[in-house]
Amino acid sequence: MTTLFDPLRFGEISVANRIVMAPLTRDRAGPNQVPTPLMATYYEQRASAGLIVSEGTQVSPDGQGYLDTPGIYSAEQVAGWRRVTDAVHAAGGKMVAQLWHVGRISHVSLLPLGQVPVSSTARAAKTKTFTKAGFEAVSEPRALRLDEIAGVVAKFRHAARCAIDAGFDGVEVHGANGYLFEQFLRDSVNDRTDAYGGSFENRSRLLLEVIQAITSEIGHGRTGLRLSPVTPANDAAQDSNAQALFEYAVEQLAPMRMAFLHVVEGSTGGPRDIAPFDYAALRSRFKQGNEHGAWMVNNGYTRQMALNVVASGQADLVAFGKSFIGNPDLVRRLREDAPLAPLNQKLLYGGGAEGYTDYPALETAAA
Ligand SMILES: Cc1cc2nc3c(=O)[nH]c(=O)nc-3n(C[C@H](O)[C@H](O)[C@H](O)COP(=O)(O)O)c2cc1C
Repeated sequence: MTTLFDPLRFGEISVANRIVMAPLTRDRAGPNQVPTPLMATYYEQRASAGLIVSEGTQVSPDGQGYLDTPGIYSAEQVAGWRRVTDAVHAAGGKMVAQLWHVGRISHVSLLPLGQVPVSSTARAAKTKTFTKAGFEAVSEPRALRLDEIAGVVAKFRHAARCAIDAGFDGVEVHGANGYLFEQFLRDSVNDRTDAYGGSFENRSRLLLEVIQAITSEIGHGRTGLRLSPVTPANDAAQDSNAQALFEYAVEQLAPMRMAFLHVVEGSTGGPRDIAPFDYAALRSRFKQGNEHGAWMVNNGYTRQMALNVVASGQADLVAFGKSFIGNPDLVRRLREDAPLAPLNQKLLYGGGAEGYTDYPALETAAA
């Protein structure tokens, strides 16, 4: 029987166990959105995860939506990430970069001078972001023009190339949590009347073009995607037919034979049962013709839930978010059924080592 602690190979990625560190924004990048040596220490401490998914990392300056998040488009950023991936690899871990464009979840103060956030729509989200001034309402976006869409695809392609140059084992496209791709996918947000709005086909087009571009740039075996079909995160109201929409998109993606699909079940960081959704049906679409693609699940998994979901074959990998913050040695604690340390909510976003690299591993905690 397969367990949570068994190795797995999917695409070009081989992992020592099925435990994944979920992407976690911590807002600690340095000037020019460059990853710092402290970030290398933080990830190195957590390298016993089978796989680390980096914090959301913007593919371009206009993809940034929060203060001090890292980028993956300049040579300086690639060099910064190289320190991180070298540290993780030296500690025996694997790491993919989460490629992020926030779309309308941004604020003008975070964007190049004179720019406003871009999206599928010109309607603002009713949510806040984190800027120099603290939490502020997001700015009013403008709808991307048809002739700008190829440029968005090119930014993702370039960022994927930068990720490989920086030593990452692959990439995870951030298609979740109300950011750019969900702003195109969901009919609750997308009000376009061109080739990128309306039908499932049109609303999925940007995502499919980006995955196509990335798989041709770095190989399908290094490409993954995160989706969250029913999350209300970032003012993305439910699609009028989420089940059919996401099944359509995943069915179209299946022939691209991605290494993995990462699904947030329910409301990100909240109730798993916020809206009905048949994840097993989505999984069977993904596995059609791509039986080696890994199915990664997330959201509110306890040790027992994770043991069960892997043992029963319903998932190949389980991603843990919050518990990796307070427990750098989470894999060992899960293996030994040791108690989990809590995290400090006040130190999640921004700051330095405190509440970041100072959570002790078991032996230090016991000493
Ligand atoms: C501090 C924090 C930052 C997060 N940043 C990201 C992110 O950058 N990208 C992303 O896809 N999800 C992000 N999430 C969501 C987590 O990856 C995960 O889906 C969520 O915490 C639920 O998993 P858990 O119950 O294991 O914590 C973040 C969550 C937290 C708590």
